[in-house]
Amino acid sequence: MAKLLLVNARIATMRDGRCSMIENGGLVARDGVITSVGPMTMLNTARRASDVEVLDARGALVTPGLIDCHTHLVYAGNRAKEFEMRLNGSSYEDIARAGGGILSTVKATRAAGGDELRAQSQPRMDALMSEGVTTVEIKSGYGLDTKNELKCLRVAQSLASGSPVRVQTTLLGAHALPAEYKGRADAYVDLVCDEMIPAAAKQGLASAVDAFCEGIGFTPAQVRRVFEAARKHGLHVKLHADQLSDLGGAALAAEFEAVSADHLEHTREEGVKALALAGTTAVLLPVAFYFLRETRLPPIAALREHHVPIAIATDCNPGTAPCASILTAANMACTLFRLMPEEALAGITVYAARALGLSDCGTLEADKRADFVLWDLEDPAQLAWQVAGLKPREVVFEGKRRAAHK
Ligand code: NIG
Ligand code: FE
Repeated sequence: MAKLLLVNARIATMRDGRCSMIENGGLVARDGVITSVGPMTMLNTARRASDVEVLDARGALVTPGLIDCHTHLVYAGNRAKEFEMRLNGSSYEDIARAGGGILSTVKATRAAGGDELRAQSQPRMDALMSEGVTTVEIKSGYGLDTKNELKCLRVAQSLASGSPVRVQTTLLGAHALPAEYKGRADAYVDLVCDEMIPAAAKQGLASAVDAFCEGIGFTPAQVRRVFEAARKHGLHVKLHADQLSDLGGAALAAEFEAVSADHLEHTREEGVKALALAGTTAVLLPVAFYFLRETRLPPIAALREHHVPIAIATDCNPGTAPCASILTAANMACTLFRLMPEEALAGITVYAARALGLSDCGTLEADKRADFVLWDLEDPAQLAWQVAGLKPREVVFEGKRRAAHK
């Protein structure tokens, strides 16, 4: 059995969302799973057996592997032209209504073969991994027909093959109405429910289903149908909820016991209460807020008051968040949303795991995956304090050491 012994570390376990440190700590992992964590004096550090690998942290800060729980990083092309249009005064919604926005990425993504799509997406995955990300959620949503949605999910899964990163895939067929269904949104929702969801479930291509509940997306009644189909196939649900307007998305997500409700800028207190009762995690996406120059803040005080767990993610996508940096998202969660660094760090570890319905990662405790990151930092708050350019010393995936990307 492969055993890894981490010694001389300053460990932020992130248990209960807290940064409290185990100074002079250590960790034992066997076959990729943590068996114990604690002060060095309490660990069984017997290292006689020849299969024990010792990793001397030399005083490094150690955090759980970071988790990006909301990305759309599989896409082709870019939307720099639309960025220029917005700088000239068009709004994100105007561009979408004129057939640009998500649909322009759909055109480029449909045209790309699987290998090409993978080649274009790989650098975004590499960028996340270079910051200590060990688990990434990737949504489809730029295919918008069964063949292309499944292609995107396959490409997403392929980014994990031959790589130590874990990918969780989400089917986002209900992202936008493709041009060929113009004026026939309900018929498109039939396609999502009757063809895409069953095919993705049968082929093991997705563990969750998401939808964009919005004036430029799908109505709550349509989302309800998508969620019912997801439930029938045993898939988790999550929702792009209340990003640009309040359609009651948070309450709808809660009604279906969604693992997460994401964005939430326009969510009111009733929606927050519903999330709390359902145990749904709020995923905040400050990079999209920044990039769209939004002014309406998500209901942070209410989320705290009602003890809704808050996760933070990049939303990495070409339209609203061309950003493959989880630490930038953590920094913006503090600067723009006024989260405390400890909350931001919990948002990219323990609560990000929860937003994916995963219970085997996100903290450093016995029985969790031995996914952790060594940082040459004094204070864990530096992870959210520094604006860009921070890289770990080393990342360990399931107990296996891997030199950090430089
Ligand atoms: O999370 N809101 C919908 N989906 C993405 C944007 C997608 C795009 O513009 O390409 C988001 O912000
Ligand atoms: Fe998104």
